[in-house]
Amino acid sequence: MNDILPGEADAWLDFEAKVGAWLARYGYRNIRMPLVEHTQLFRRAIGEATDIVEKEMYSWRDELNGEDLTLRPEGTASCVRAAIEHSLLHDGPKRLWYSGPMFRHERPQKGRYRQFHQFGVEALGYPGPDVDAELIAMCAALWRDLGLTGLRLELNNIGSPQERARYRTDLVAFLEKNASRLDDDARRRMHTNPLRTLDSKNPAVQEVLASAPSLAGHLGDASRAHFDGVKRLLDAVGVEFSINPKLVRGLDYYNLTVFEWISDRLGAQGTVCGGGRYDGLFELIGGKPAPAAGFAMGNERLIALVLEGERSSGPGREAPHAYVVFQGEGTAEYAFALAEELRFARFRIVLHAGGGSFKSQMKKADSSGALYALIVGEDELRANEVAFKFLRKDAEQLRVQRGQLKQTLSEALAQQKG
Ligand code: HAM
Repeated sequence: MNDILPGEADAWLDFEAKVGAWLARYGYRNIRMPLVEHTQLFRRAIGEATDIVEKEMYSWRDELNGEDLTLRPEGTASCVRAAIEHSLLHDGPKRLWYSGPMFRHERPQKGRYRQFHQFGVEALGYPGPDVDAELIAMCAALWRDLGLTGLRLELNNIGSPQERARYRTDLVAFLEKNASRLDDDARRRMHTNPLRTLDSKNPAVQEVLASAPSLAGHLGDASRAHFDGVKRLLDAVGVEFSINPKLVRGLDYYNLTVFEWISDRLGAQGTVCGGGRYDGLFELIGGKPAPAAGFAMGNERLIALVLEGERSSGPGREAPHAYVVFQGEGTAEYAFALAEELRFARFRIVLHAGGGSFKSQMKKADSSGALYALIVGEDELRANEVAFKFLRKDAEQLRVQRGQLKQTLSEALAQQKG
């Protein structure tokens, strides 16, 4: 669990602003759920035999009211729970998004944390492949907004629960026949969650699986037609994808379309975004059946990619317009009021604090990234003027009447931009 320090937090703010604007463009509305839910919600929604439920949840018993509680490891279950509890679909389907911290007790490593942050996007109540394709195309648009290149999209069709059950039977028979060639992990999963053996990282296991029965071969017409619809729409907007028949995702609620966006620049934790359709989840956790699809992306991983791309182009943060330095009898009050007045006029102003010589204050002004220093000494105070120093270009210092200062600042900024 990490502190996000100011240098990096600037990049987070920038990222969040871009994501917010992008969500609005697609008509998604914000929902905010609590960080804590009943443990049972996640056990049912995510699935008993998943890594998350088996070993990654922060769960405890609230002795005061005898409830088993868990810090949310993801947002989809909570979002659907909220939609059911508040009958959000009573007047039609809803497009929703949320963001915030999620908690998983994983082994920490680069790109994998115990408290991490997601933006989640859920389209509730829509049955068609058009929404699956919209969700995926949205991601492609966001990568463009963020200036990210080189993300690849993997897609798979995991069919209906009935189709998967039939496949599961065939797969287990195959795995049992080849059990001696599997590793411990695959042998353990063979009966609890056999489909997860498909994404084993062990090359020896992958070699065995090369001749395993395929899920695609177990899908019926309706499932295939849905997936064809998704692929056609992605082709129509030029979103490239590859089909990964082994992609099954780590949560059990999915059916039909599943997808992941992956970067090769993040090492082992390269998946920046994952999602799919989950038509059974409403009913599974006690609501009226409703189709749904969505995805979530990991902020830490995406921001790492954004920062990597920006390293050459400098910090993206909004530096102050001006830094106010002052020294001498009566100048503190003058500078204080001046800074407030300029902020009221929407300028970004940092007022020096903590005393020190003019020289040391000017050093702070420079390292703040401000474009200008506004200097108030006793002379300026007497004349009701401010010395205006350009910190980022070679230009002569000005003396400006206080009443003129806003205009001078505006003009200097306009010139800077032009
Ligand atoms: P997920 O694949 O478990 O899906 O997580 C989505 C994304 O969250 C991952 O692709 C990754 O970027 C990020 N993430 C997951 N675990 C960590 C971690 N320990 N540290 C850093 N980042 C992490 C879900 O959570 C589903 N709720 C997605 C969804 C929404 N499906 C339908 N709707």
